[in-house]
Amino acid sequence: MSLEGTFTALLLLLVSGGSAVIVPSPTNLKVRCQNLRVTVSWKYSELQPQTVFSMNISGSYGKEFRITDHQYDLSDFIWESEAHYMGSYYVTVTAIQGGTRSQPVTSETFAFNSVKTTSIQCELYFPPVALIKKDSGAVISFRNPFHFYRELNLAKKKDSASFHFSVVVSNEEFDSECNLYQENCTHDISSPEDVKCVVLNGLLFDSINVGQVKFIPQKKEICITQSTDVYMVTLVILLSVVVVVLVVVTIIICKAKARTNLLEEQDQEEQQEEKEEEHRPYFRDFDRLHFDRLHFGDVGNGDVGDGDVGDGDVGDGDVGDGDVGDGDMGEDYIPRTQFRI
Ligand SMILES: *[C@@H]1O[C@H](CO)[C@@H](O)[C@H](O)[C@H]1NC(C)=O
Ligand SMILES: *[C@@H]1O[C@H](CO)[C@@H](O)[C@H](O)[C@H]1NC(C)=O
Repeated sequence: MSLEGTFTALLLLLVSGGSAVIVPSPTNLKVRCQNLRVTVSWKYSELQPQTVFSMNISGSYGKEFRITDHQYDLSDFIWESEAHYMGSYYVTVTAIQGGTRSQPVTSETFAFNSVKTTSIQCELYFPPVALIKKDSGAVISFRNPFHFYRELNLAKKKDSASFHFSVVVSNEEFDSECNLYQENCTHDISSPEDVKCVVLNGLLFDSINVGQVKFIPQKKEICITQSTDVYMVTLVILLSVVVVVLVVVTIIICKAKARTNLLEEQDQEEQQEEKEEEHRPYFRDFDRLHFDRLHFGDVGNGDVGDGDVGDGDVGDGDVGDGDVGDGDMGEDYIPRTQFRI
């Protein structure tokens, strides 16, 4: 703690003994609504440990709460009844030390009811939605929010409360609704026949059809949900394709490597050939394949066969016993033209 802080604390301690105490107000008062959860929070200096807060919710209905914490969950108050959740509110918080109160601080106004004009407009999420393909068109289905949300289910309300929703498909809008007692809300979409994705909007009405709470889907677009069987089949097909592709790629890589070796061999041989060019006759006749045997004697045993190329680089080396195999090359000398595939 800084010297100044210590001094302030001391001063406050001295002053609190007297009667003219100035209690600082809470700061940073915020209301947040995340789906059905409504919370209020504020900041307060840790310097005064014996502080109690008086938090009043005011507006359509009011209540006072006494707390020592710096936050409060208002959900139970809001979802107590239809009258409560259709109201608009603001919160005031006062710090109390001993018998002395701070100046109150006031929050922004908030409401779930979109008919009310407030700074904070709270909205609710649709329950999980399924869009199931049918022979012609599709059917959209989700749990009725009055059943899905425990808070909404328990809130005191009249029978005439209802949930309205609209399905937008290729710029056409279909309106539908479900009452308090239906377990699921569903709607048949008959056109277009090949519907793939839809946009969904919802409004939860009060029993006199005036107040309305806006519902938003968790995703902007809802698309066809396939059955699990179709997913399994797709998975198996995908895996098979992956395996086949891997095998093919492996084969291609092996072949390419073999070919590279062969080409290197060819290069070496060509260099060799250049060197040997002057010493032997130039044989290059594609039509006369038998000429490999014919000239075996001349060439194979001669300069090339037993010499540099035959036993060395080509015959027993990489090409002969290695990649190409004995079958292809044989023991005989094969003219270089053979390598030009
Ligand atoms: C909070 O509510 C209580 C009881 O209703 C009331 O006496 C008090 O004046 C209210 N405080 C503020 C700041 O509105
Ligand atoms: C409501 O939908 C669920 C699945 O989403 C289903 O299991 C249940 O049988 C449906 N209830 C009615 C009454 O159709």
